[in-house]
Amino acid sequence: MSTSYESRNQAAWNLLAESGSQFAQVANDEECRNPLVTLDTRGWLPASVRGLDVLCLASGGGWQSILYACAGANVTVVDLSESMLELDRREAERRSLTVRTVHASMDDLSMLADESFDIVHQPVSTCYVPKIADVYQEIARVARDGGTYISQHKQPTSLQITGRDHRDRYHLGIEYYHEGALPRSNDDSYRETGAVEYLHRWEHLVGELCRCGFVLQDFCEPFRADRQAPPGHYRHRGRYVAPYVRLKACRIPRAEQEEPASSIWTP
Ligand SMILES: C[S@@+](CC[C@H](N)C(=O)[O-])C[C@H]1O[C@@H](n2cnc3c(N)ncnc32)[C@H](O)[C@@H]1O
Repeated sequence: MSTSYESRNQAAWNLLAESGSQFAQVANDEECRNPLVTLDTRGWLPASVRGLDVLCLASGGGWQSILYACAGANVTVVDLSESMLELDRREAERRSLTVRTVHASMDDLSMLADESFDIVHQPVSTCYVPKIADVYQEIARVARDGGTYISQHKQPTSLQITGRDHRDRYHLGIEYYHEGALPRSNDDSYRETGAVEYLHRWEHLVGELCRCGFVLQDFCEPFRADRQAPPGHYRHRGRYVAPYVRLKACRIPRAEQEEPASSIWTP
């Protein structure tokens, strides 16, 4: 792992983990009492995950991994940040759970065997790699036929926002077709300090997923709006643009998979 986006994001997330970011909070006792409900408010997971092989992808921090392990799954967690993975290891040990940690980038999972996972669960993180298709291809390879992929992504329009004017209207200061790493933004409600991020358009987020061997089964926009939130608050911004999308997809059995369609149309 030597590319600049990887080393910069690794450093940024090590810092976030060490400074107690909201994304680096291990699952608490209350959340662990009913782990599947905590993980999944929409009923996307099976009634039991006991004995299933689950990959928590780009999911360090000791939340998803600990909850799946509490529910009896065989858990592997992959993350770029050693400090995030250390939280998983420490919390698993404290709770006498088994969690396998792998230090790797989500776009190269070559250390993981083909068709070795029943569920792949990925929190918001595809924004940290330039090519989402590389990530989807790796997930399609390691997922078993009929396996479930649950993931959350930053919504492209949200990543276009660069600030707010004197009438509290949000600016789309970045072009939808922006290529390469995003410039820094004055509005960091939904950006992480020091991280290198990329905007993935809908044709990448959803189109590449289908082209890589998945069918989309469900889709939602986690609610982040609050009418009482003052301008500047992330929930004020959430009234105007939904920051995230969450999707559930199924790995098409290999025997039924058609040839991938042609690549993305370029305007
Ligand atoms: C928003 S956090 C998700 C973790 C958290 N447990 C949660 O509750 O949402 C995003 C994670 O992606 C990881 N990450 C960033 N770039 C990555 C990459 N290229 N490969 C794997 N993980 C990466 C970060 O280290 C961080 O742990």
